[in-house]
Amino acid sequence: MTMQFNTETFRDDYSFRNSDWAIRRFPFPFHEDSYMYSVNMEQHRGGPEGSVYEKRFDVDEHYVSEMHDRALVLAEDPLRCQSLPHMTLAGWDLLELIMVSKSEDYPDLFELHRDGNQWRWINKPLGIDDTFTFLDETTLPYGPMEYITRQTQGDFAVLDQREENLWMDAGMVTTQADWSLDFDIGMNFFEWHAPVPRAHEMGIFKRALKFLLNVQQGSPARRLNWTMTVNPRLDTSPENYHKWGVEKTTLTPENIGAKQHLRVELQTFFRLPRSNALVFPIRCYLIAFQDIVTVPKWGRRLHRVVRDLPEDLADYKGFIANRPLMLDYLSQYDDGLPTSPGV
Ligand code: HEM
Repeated sequence: MTMQFNTETFRDDYSFRNSDWAIRRFPFPFHEDSYMYSVNMEQHRGGPEGSVYEKRFDVDEHYVSEMHDRALVLAEDPLRCQSLPHMTLAGWDLLELIMVSKSEDYPDLFELHRDGNQWRWINKPLGIDDTFTFLDETTLPYGPMEYITRQTQGDFAVLDQREENLWMDAGMVTTQADWSLDFDIGMNFFEWHAPVPRAHEMGIFKRALKFLLNVQQGSPARRLNWTMTVNPRLDTSPENYHKWGVEKTTLTPENIGAKQHLRVELQTFFRLPRSNALVFPIRCYLIAFQDIVTVPKWGRRLHRVVRDLPEDLADYKGFIANRPLMLDYLSQYDDGLPTSPGV
């Protein structure tokens, strides 16, 4: 195996760290000095070598520890993974998509051997070597969606498409930015987006849904979203708000560089072949402020974005109370120079 996997935690002692490599490839989400919601979608057709966009499902140094954290969340709260009965076929579609993609994109880490419906899946980083019958649930230790998403970084919403809408009828959600699968299960695109400020009035959700309904098999799409998290905690769920909400009050001028993290989601959209469902993987990348500012153009730009973000967005994203502290810290890295468009 060529990749080195970190041994780290996303809770308690928070030993999560990004290597220099992970910092350099971080998907910094701002292409200009200010931010507003938009229909920021593009084709997911790969990207520069080594970037998080290169492969269909990015695997990085955090893989093994993230999967361990997912297992802890599920042991405490099995409702983070749900699949309504009509979504089992979509689960098999997803299992196939991920196994084929990972074995082709990372042949030194994953192997898939197929002989008709008899499949053998080898996941070397997690030490798994399983043989099963494709489309026969009784031959796997979990349902197909749960089985494969316990082995894949990022959350997954699996959407049924009907009545010109998308319905959140299945998912694996343990690394989310303050929303709940158990609350949203069975909702449609407009219903689960109801709490988002401005975007409805701006017509963003209508246009985004139109785009998504037309995503074709073999032509995935992607977009970035972002928010802020104090401490590198993956599981910032409403279910556990009592654990992480209070941590927002622990920031000081001395610790903010290490504790405050920018949280970026690489969201992708794949049409699934048999079920015609749409899968929405949401891959979370965390980076400490003190690591962001090692790239001068990022530090400069982040200061301006945080400073000028409208109040309702800063409130929705949950950092309005800490914004003054963030600005004091980030302003040290803004020399006032103009920035050029692009990341
Ligand atoms: C927020 C799900 C696609 C734009 C959210 C939230 C969920 C969600 C659960 C949190 C809402 C809350 O506060 O409870 C999904 C799913 C999608 C999808 C499952 C795939 C079908 C999109 C697309 C766009 C979009 C295509 C826009 C182009 C947004 C925006 C927010 C949001 C702007 C607010 C994020 C923030 O400010 O941090 N989405 N979404 N979503 N979504 Fe989506």
